[in-house]
Amino acid sequence: MALTSSWKLILAAIVVLGMWASQSTARTLPDASMVEKHEQWMAQFGRSYKDDAEKAMRFKIFKDNVEYIQSFNEAGAKPYKLAINKFADLTNEEFKASRNGYKMGSHPKSPKVSSFKYANVSAVPASMDWRTKGAVTAVKDQGQCGCCWAFSAVAATEGINQLTTGKLISLSEQELVDCDTSEDQGCNGGLMDDAFEFIIGNKGLTTESNYPYQGVDATCNTKKESSRVAKITGYEDVPANSESALLKAVANQPVSVAIDAGESDFQFYSSGVFTGECGTELDHGVTAVGYGKTSDGTKYWLVKNSWGSSWGENGYIRMERDIDAAEGLCGIAMQASYPTA
Ligand SMILES: *[C@@H]1O[C@H](CO)[C@@H](O)[C@H](O)[C@H]1NC(C)=O
Repeated sequence: MALTSSWKLILAAIVVLGMWASQSTARTLPDASMVEKHEQWMAQFGRSYKDDAEKAMRFKIFKDNVEYIQSFNEAGAKPYKLAINKFADLTNEEFKASRNGYKMGSHPKSPKVSSFKYANVSAVPASMDWRTKGAVTAVKDQGQCGCCWAFSAVAATEGINQLTTGKLISLSEQELVDCDTSEDQGCNGGLMDDAFEFIIGNKGLTTESNYPYQGVDATCNTKKESSRVAKITGYEDVPANSESALLKAVANQPVSVAIDAGESDFQFYSSGVFTGECGTELDHGVTAVGYGKTSDGTKYWLVKNSWGSSWGENGYIRMERDIDAAEGLCGIAMQASYPTA
């Protein structure tokens, strides 16, 4: 979005005036550049508002977020950075309401004492990245639909399917949103374990291309659904509150994990190893697709998110691993599970 030269002159004049008047009206300069920033951001992310009132309201939120992000990065107190991303005109409450969708309160209908096939794994590689083994599809984007649980379950299913068949096939989240409705609630939330139950009972899932993602609740398309390409025979829960158990599982396959992703630092995470602030109110389903250690010795989980590739590190986040709390950072070790072939 190139500015015309007359606009450049006017903006320059505003900046000069702002500097000149900065003693008495200290807010003129930052606000002038903030308006410009907001316009650029709107163009970059194709955002438009229905009227001036909404634009003014969104500008205020954008400004608050930008100021928070700038002061966080300037403080440099954490090993990760934040960035102005596509969520920059949303309050944290709005963000939480529309982008997560893990129903912590509800539990799978028949919580079974699940066996843990990796219990006796004694040696694991020092690091793992299932992307380099061809077991992870491209980052997807759930949009404004709280069906993170479907993306998490699908990513884990894509992983085990690739590990057993050698074929990486992108599978359908929309099938889960539309058809897995006995326990899960589409865009209103769900659980990965319930999704695994559905996939088992349904004798598999169809492909992303056959049943593409819409980001809204729709009627189950039984014709598309009947073309099943990837099945699972069961699923297991990783013993809760043990990062060492989680490690054994992630060393062997991509694993669905639930986390507390509700804080602004998660909303605006951009790069580095995320160390919180975050609690353990699990509200988001994602997929652990590896682990490792940085050159300075910080251990991390490599986590695939479903907020598009412009968020975080190309759609991924590295989250601190082996912390003091048994629940793991943001509760990552509390409700992990994986499908079995
Ligand atoms: C792990 O080892 C113990 C002791 O040998 C055995 O009883 C158990 O069945 C093993 N668990 C798995 C999942 O292989």
